[in-house]
Amino acid sequence: MRQAGRYLPEYLQTRSRAASFLDLCFTPGLAAEVTLQPVRRFDFDAAILFSDILVVPHALGRSVRFIEGEGPQLDPIGREVGLLDASRVSERLRPVFETVRIVRSELAAEKALIGFCGAPWTVATYMIAGRGSSDQLAARRFALERPTEMEKLIGVLTEVSAEYLVGQLKAGADAVKIFDSWAGVLDDEGFRALAIEPVRRIIEKVRAVLPSAPVIAFPRGAGARLGEYAEAVKADAIAVDWTTPMATARNLISVPTALQGNLDPLRLRIGGRALDDGVDEILSAMVGCAHIFNLGHGISPDTPVEHVAHLVQRVRSRDR
Ligand code: CP3
Repeated sequence: MRQAGRYLPEYLQTRSRAASFLDLCFTPGLAAEVTLQPVRRFDFDAAILFSDILVVPHALGRSVRFIEGEGPQLDPIGREVGLLDASRVSERLRPVFETVRIVRSELAAEKALIGFCGAPWTVATYMIAGRGSSDQLAARRFALERPTEMEKLIGVLTEVSAEYLVGQLKAGADAVKIFDSWAGVLDDEGFRALAIEPVRRIIEKVRAVLPSAPVIAFPRGAGARLGEYAEAVKADAIAVDWTTPMATARNLISVPTALQGNLDPLRLRIGGRALDDGVDEILSAMVGCAHIFNLGHGISPDTPVEHVAHLVQRVRSRDR
């Protein structure tokens, strides 16, 4: 998760060649370069496509801006939900497919390329509030007060996200990941309707076109609901945030699925014993289970580069 970013000097250098963050996402040569940088430096087993979950609302014709130091800003959506135009999404996202093609052709055969999209609920939270927040109050209110419009918005996002993932897979992505960063703020009914159901449908739609495409789902904050989630969405792998121990995730999930996770990014930032203990705990919990080691959420910009190199070495030295 977030392999690239401000903690890498080479990222900052490439970033300065683009006029804006979105230009970086939509310039295939630069986006491919940024995708490949962390793999070159750390020899990761997989590259994650450099883009952002908010290119989808942009492709739906919404205004999306990334303000330095403040994060994303969008024009909050209201009644215009009914006017969203999904007809040009694939055409507008074509530069992303081109990035995938370039990366796949430059990446070594044994390295995987992971494409991604945001889950409909998480993307909707940014479209409704117009910015990030920690409780997603605006989107939760919208869901309860304007259920018909919410259903319409989630429906459009489900359609276009499936189409977008199929486009990435056809362009050469080896797997795709669906990020539901705000799944955890929903109550049970909301979790089923807004987190589980749309992701279940996206995976079903992707498999209708590409039956063997590997899909990873990340329901951040699902906690005790991981079992129900995994059973319903039928992903090939479930990614776990750092607040649920991997051993607990293993016990909660009864369907056969690989697990991805889940080092607290703060341990990576601090390094030393905090890092080593965190890594060892996860690896011990996952003995005998299909496991993709990664962070339990995004890397922070002030993470020392040497800590990442140390992490890779420690995971590899204990590889079973
Ligand atoms: O690691 C990679 O190279 C993959 C690319 C990637 C980015 N965003 C690039 C990015 C991925 C997989 C994402 C996903 C994403 N984007 C999510 C889901 C995962 C999560 O973190 O919960 C979300 C919610 C977003 C929306 C988003 N994009 C926010 C809230 C921000 C601001 C955060 C910040 O640190 O300011 C972004 C900007 C963003 N997307 C950056 C990167 C590398 C930071 C911008 C920069 O460093 O120039």
